[in-house]
Amino acid sequence: MSQTEIFESDRAAGYNQFVETWIPNYHYFLNQLPRVLRDVEHKSLLCAGCGTGNEIERFAQSTQRWEITGVDPSPEMLKQAREKFRTAPNVTLVDGLVTDLAPEPAFGAATLLLVLHFLKEPEKLNLLKAIADRLKPGGSFVMMDITGEGESFHTNVEILRLLWPDGVDAEQAKTRLYRIQHELHHISEENLVHLFTQAGFNPPVRFFQSAVYMGWLATKK
Ligand SMILES: C[S@@+](CC[C@H](N)C(=O)[O-])C[C@H]1O[C@@H](n2cnc3c(N)ncnc32)[C@H](O)[C@@H]1O
Repeated sequence: MSQTEIFESDRAAGYNQFVETWIPNYHYFLNQLPRVLRDVEHKSLLCAGCGTGNEIERFAQSTQRWEITGVDPSPEMLKQAREKFRTAPNVTLVDGLVTDLAPEPAFGAATLLLVLHFLKEPEKLNLLKAIADRLKPGGSFVMMDITGEGESFHTNVEILRLLWPDGVDAEQAKTRLYRIQHELHHISEENLVHLFTQAGFNPPVRFFQSAVYMGWLATKK
């Protein structure tokens, strides 16, 4: 699949457990996001590829009032998000792609968490551009994804394996390692910086890392 990666029934249902097990420190990262973006002037947030709404939850619970729009092309994932935010008047959920959203009114901030590695190029760049096009100048963008290349990437894959909880199923661990290395589309830090600048962002700063998972902050030019 080139433009989207659809999460259907079982995969969507088990998603939160999946994250908890296989992405060490992800919940810590999510919990910090409202703090990282607390100085953003316009508190309107685009959560691209919001899935079941993990990141939306943090902003919806924040002491600052955010107007949040989550967009995702997987109906099964979005169904879970709809359940969670049924009664939240400041959360809007859109079934589709970022390009389905009007460019105006532009958002003050955006997130793209654990999405880019499903896409090949040029779809990675197209998605980053679609997000940049929907941000106000100077707007903040947080991205988290599988990043790295060469020896250091392989060492970080090995560290990831060591960070997984005791007792994870050995066969599942093997499958997951293979998927990260050979099926998902990680990119080098250098290429990531290049894509961001091409898409219309200032060079991003890496502010978080848990083995191969890196969190980046950038502003729109
Ligand atoms: C691993 S989940 C991450 C969900 C959420 N961001 C989180 O961190 O919990 C990836 C999500 O990306 C969505 N996705 C796949 N292709 C996409 C695209 N081209 N644009 C936006 N979202 C996409 C999938 O439907 C899925 O819900």
